Amino acid sequence: MKNILLLCGGGGSEHEISLLSAKYIFDTLATCDDYKVFKVEILRNGDRIDQDGYLCELRKAGEIFYPHSEEIHKLDFAIPCIHGPPGENGIIQSIFELMGLPYLGVGPEASQICFNKVSTKLWLDALQIPNTEYIFLGEFNEVNKHRAQVFFDQHKDIYIKAASQGSSVGCYHVNKEEYLEKSLTEAFKFSDFVLIEKTQKARELEISVYEYEGQIHASLPGEIICPDGFYTFEQKYSKESKTHTDIVAKNIPQKISDEMKDMAIKAFRGLKLKHLSRVDFFLTDDGKVFINEINTFPGMTPISMFPKMMENNGHKFKTYLNNIIQSST
Ligand SMILES: Nc1ncnc2c1ncn2[C@@H]1O[C@H](COP(=O)(O)OP(=O)(O)O)[C@@H](O)[C@H]1O
Ligand SMILES: [Mg+2]
Repeated sequence: MKNILLLCGGGGSEHEISLLSAKYIFDTLATCDDYKVFKVEILRNGDRIDQDGYLCELRKAGEIFYPHSEEIHKLDFAIPCIHGPPGENGIIQSIFELMGLPYLGVGPEASQICFNKVSTKLWLDALQIPNTEYIFLGEFNEVNKHRAQVFFDQHKDIYIKAASQGSSVGCYHVNKEEYLEKSLTEAFKFSDFVLIEKTQKARELEISVYEYEGQIHASLPGEIICPDGFYTFEQKYSKESKTHTDIVAKNIPQKISDEMKDMAIKAFRGLKLKHLSRVDFFLTDDGKVFINEINTFPGMTPISMFPKMMENNGHKFKTYLNNIIQSST
């Protein structure tokens, strides 16, 4: 019997989604006989509670400790099921490294690189992987205001994004000059760095990349079809969302789909990602492919794209998880 820590919550804007992903993983692992799963939620106040509501603590030696009973369990493997900070930006992974606990997914450095939209761009450029035209700002001063204005005048339609955010928080579509300054001010409230990109008239496609039996696999591209083009927080999570998804995007020529898979795998290898990632793309109206971003711990709810695209690619999510746990412990 192996003791698995399934860490979820985290108190960020994707807290609730993390709980849904954790339920899916918990239910998947519950169908295996070999695991005792400790589902631990990091609450908004920082407390940690398990699935039965007991307060618990994680200890340096890779243990879980229950103050009420003084019980201690040695952990064998951890799953950092948190989207956004502190799970997707490398912090939790650093803690697992310190605890000496093997875990699912990307290590601390690569997690941090991919969570920051500026460092992602710098790496994609260095790896010569096409991505959308951008500039970034480290401060909201007169010089940078001018740089932003010049970029806007050149493209007339841009996205302004807080660098260290997800879920479209701190992300603004600016197609009128009057929104420029306000959007920059808002974006700087979320992050120390702000990315400005040219708007792409494009389809939004995603690929699951994952390791199975030591091999890297890339799924076919799936599609997010968002009626007004901007996949906002509401479009992502609200019940009224008009966005729908296709597990396999329709009418993508084989050549483009192969090109996207190659790019996804090149990014996975180049950034030394591990076990899983969802690579998000733009496919422009004139047939160009750009990587938009890399999500190192993508949503894993029963309706999420990551596990569905994997299953459609021929690998059961349960077998995949089992395979990683067995080979890591
Ligand atoms: N350069 C761009 N051109 C067109 N749409 C964009 C661009 N950048 C972002 N968007 C829109 O904003 C959404 C959120 O941006 P993204 O960079 O994916 O941030 P997040 O990490 O919050 O998901 C995208 O899914 C897309 O709908
Ligand atoms: Mg995104």
